[in-house]
Amino acid sequence: PLKAKIGPSILNADLANLYTESQKLLDNGADYLHLDVMDGSFVPNLTFGHPMVKCLRNNIKTAFFETHMMVSKPEQWIAPMADAGVNLYTFHIEPVEDVCKVCRLVQEAGMKVGLAIKPGTKVEELTEYMSIADLVLVMTVEPGFGGQSFMADMMPKVEWLRQNYPNMDIEVDGGVGPKTIECCAKAGANMIVSGTAVVGASDQRKVMDEMRNVVQS
Ligand code: DX5
Ligand code: ZN
Repeated sequence: PLKAKIGPSILNADLANLYTESQKLLDNGADYLHLDVMDGSFVPNLTFGHPMVKCLRNNIKTAFFETHMMVSKPEQWIAPMADAGVNLYTFHIEPVEDVCKVCRLVQEAGMKVGLAIKPGTKVEELTEYMSIADLVLVMTVEPGFGGQSFMADMMPKVEWLRQNYPNMDIEVDGGVGPKTIECCAKAGANMIVSGTAVVGASDQRKVMDEMRNVVQS
């Protein structure tokens, strides 16, 4: 069976203390780190890029890093992100002309590849890439900002994916926390991104354990 994994998003953490905040999440049982990269073009917000990720990697040797590339030209950042020590390169299919080619380049650079869709994108648009992708990400908020409300109406996408691709890693991202995890688990998601609900919690371990247990059971 697929493992349930919790990948906290550090978007709403104290970015001036990115290392400390990330290490704390890992010490509290995070299975991987979800790093939100925004370019101010694909989404109306800016975060950080490969130089920051590389510095984080220099301080955190072994953790699994996913970069969620909310950028207009994902092919542009493949080499620098691979060099920065990224393990999973998840990009949005919406702005990309040749998704297969970008997938191939990501894998050739030594990373796993994830494909993300915005709330307005039909899940069927992923069909032709399912044999190449290592993971698919169903956004449960409009990408760009942390702390938004979970869109439960995205769950049919997750259900459809799980029914048709029982062995695929299916990730959800946006507004996911203890209150919405049951919905995600029932639909079939196994890779759980959670930002504000985990980062802001007084007991991060408890929140992550709780969510992992709901998904795994
Ligand atoms: C939104 C990002 C998410 C977000 C998650 O554009 O991709 O990763 O920061 O944060 P919460 O869980 O607070 O919605
Ligand atoms: Zn994200």
